Amino acid sequence: FAYINYLVERDREFVLATLINGLKMLEYRGYDSAGLCVDGDGADVLVFKEVGNVNALKDKIEAQAFDRKHVFPSHCGMAHTRWATHGIPAERNSHPHRSDSANEFLVVHNGIITNSKELRELLEKFGYVFESDTDTECVAKLAKYLYDQQLKTSGKKPLSFTSLVKLVCKQLEGAFALIFKSTHYPNEMVAARRGSPLLIGVRTAKKLKVDFVDVDNDVEFPGTILFNVFPILAAFHSSPKCLLEDGQALSADKPAVRRARSRSFMGSDDSVEPIEYILASDASAIIEHTKKVMYLEDDDVAHIADGDLHIHRLRRDDTLSSMRTVQTLEQELAQIKMGSYSHFMQKEIFEQPESVVNTMRGRINFDDGRVLLGGLKSQLANIRRSRRIIFSACGTSYHSCVATKSLFAELTELPINVELSSAFLDEQLPVFRDDVCIFVSQSGETKDTLLALQYCKERGALCLGVTNTVGSTISRDTHCGVHINAGPELSVASTKAYTSQFIALTLIALQLSDDNYAKANRRREIIKGLQSLSSNIKKVLSLDGEIKDLAVKHKDITNLILLGRGYHSATCLEGALKIKEVSYIHAEGILAGELKHGPLALIDKDMPIILMMNKDKHYVDVENAYAQVTARSGNPILICNDDDNSQVIAASQKIRVPGTVDALQGIVNIIALQVFSYHIAVARGINPDTPRNLAKSVTTA
Ligand code: G6P
Repeated sequence: FAYINYLVERDREFVLATLINGLKMLEYRGYDSAGLCVDGDGADVLVFKEVGNVNALKDKIEAQAFDRKHVFPSHCGMAHTRWATHGIPAERNSHPHRSDSANEFLVVHNGIITNSKELRELLEKFGYVFESDTDTECVAKLAKYLYDQQLKTSGKKPLSFTSLVKLVCKQLEGAFALIFKSTHYPNEMVAARRGSPLLIGVRTAKKLKVDFVDVDNDVEFPGTILFNVFPILAAFHSSPKCLLEDGQALSADKPAVRRARSRSFMGSDDSVEPIEYILASDASAIIEHTKKVMYLEDDDVAHIADGDLHIHRLRRDDTLSSMRTVQTLEQELAQIKMGSYSHFMQKEIFEQPESVVNTMRGRINFDDGRVLLGGLKSQLANIRRSRRIIFSACGTSYHSCVATKSLFAELTELPINVELSSAFLDEQLPVFRDDVCIFVSQSGETKDTLLALQYCKERGALCLGVTNTVGSTISRDTHCGVHINAGPELSVASTKAYTSQFIALTLIALQLSDDNYAKANRRREIIKGLQSLSSNIKKVLSLDGEIKDLAVKHKDITNLILLGRGYHSATCLEGALKIKEVSYIHAEGILAGELKHGPLALIDKDMPIILMMNKDKHYVDVENAYAQVTARSGNPILICNDDDNSQVIAASQKIRVPGTVDALQGIVNIIALQVFSYHIAVARGINPDTPRNLAKSVTTA
């Protein structure tokens, strides 16, 4: 979040309050620490950081002595609320990050810089001393390094702030929304995005001033375009297009653009208006200031100074429109936080093509097929020496353990136990010093899982945490672990955390076995499956309308059986839990092998059934189950592979999903069941984000 104004007489208190309020609106995205910076009285910058929520930062600032009434004709401040991915929640890891103790360059960042390790090593060689464990700090230090280099070679301040930021961004890999502030460029701000959202709100009385920038030679045209009509802004690349005031699109060569410019000048008043810009990663933080926003595109670099906004490009992209339109936000705040989705559950389901990639990011070398989990490094030899692996978790997290149990057994050749945390404690299961115990928890705070962790630690076992919450009790109290990096999950019913847990556990199994040559082909097969997972998830999500129709058709059912074998046992359990949680329908996940040992008695024409029928080694067994069910007038909905053209499939209700390696098919299938659960809840008039009687995090035993 950032704020910059021009010719608006505001005191420091106003700027601080604006930044704090902005952060509060963004707090739902992450809340383990926060920080901000504002201009000092001279050329210096005041930086404040605090662990905890935004109120903790506010209290800290309020407790400090400085001149709050200092009035600035132009002021530029920025702020950040953090959801830890690299490094625990701590003041030193909070943003803004700085280049040096004089705060020459300050940066706030959303996203992940995947080559931060290499950049850090390089900068350390040049003498930079890092203060944090974050991936972001290298960005601030790189800016200073490049600035100093230019200074050394040319002897004078050589670059515009924008050109410097462009140089920095060209070195960065991964995803970022970055905002830069510098004591070398007071009252200027530069923002850049690639892969992470960033938008700019504009508050001004009348006119907006925008420069067009030629991307090819990065030369700004002399002169400025003034638009009398507010909602249109434009920037162009090498083949410029310009949208004129009357809304008429003009594909223009440069002379035409010049004509457009002179026309725009004509009759317009060239006086500069007071103006305020508000930058944020989503519109919820902007709407209280203005409804006029402009979304930056990937590789856009926005420069704001003296009330002007300039858009530059990091690289040419002919598929991208040269227009940046100022939009008027019409939605309510809650809607903005949810984007175009109706509920957080739906949003989180649809985030999975990205969240699964975030779980894998920087951890798999797709070239040599090796997995490297930094959080396990210190204990890897000890883990490999263990005699048994015990999983302990609750709810959906427990299902992620069930889902990966057989892969663990196959790859590590160790005995594997999967225990519900509460049952583990009830039964006081024997645990030994040579056991490795893996505690899986989205929140990292579930009481039963914490008690199980304590129990295993007391018995000398090596304890490993798999959580979505850096700094949570489980991530602090375990000997080592893996963060799943799915991003905050707000809906009570867990969706994206499940698929990310599934992947994180799969990665652990892959890494533990990477010294076993005999398993190399199997590992390669799974890694290939991981590589195409995101696109397979997208394919399932594209079936949304079809799955919704099926859900609406079944909205009045009172029972549902989910049947599957092998890898799909967990999918059935988790699918049934989703349906129970959000639609209050009695749903049971049953192992198809058990059908004839009891559940078959439940089957008749009125019993709704979902049957997992993917092409894997259990296909024939599942066909058997299908025959048993249909012989009793059951009419199952099949979840099957999209290339399966068998007669059974043709004759049934079905959801066709892409096939992948058996060990990962559960991820693809569960997406279909999540979408089904969501729509059935909505069709029944239930808000799936707040199911009755349930809490997101159960912190009592
Ligand atoms: C609660 C939630 C479930 C969740 C379970 C475990 O019951 O409603 O959605 O799966 O806790 O939570 P954890 O944070 O440990 O994964």
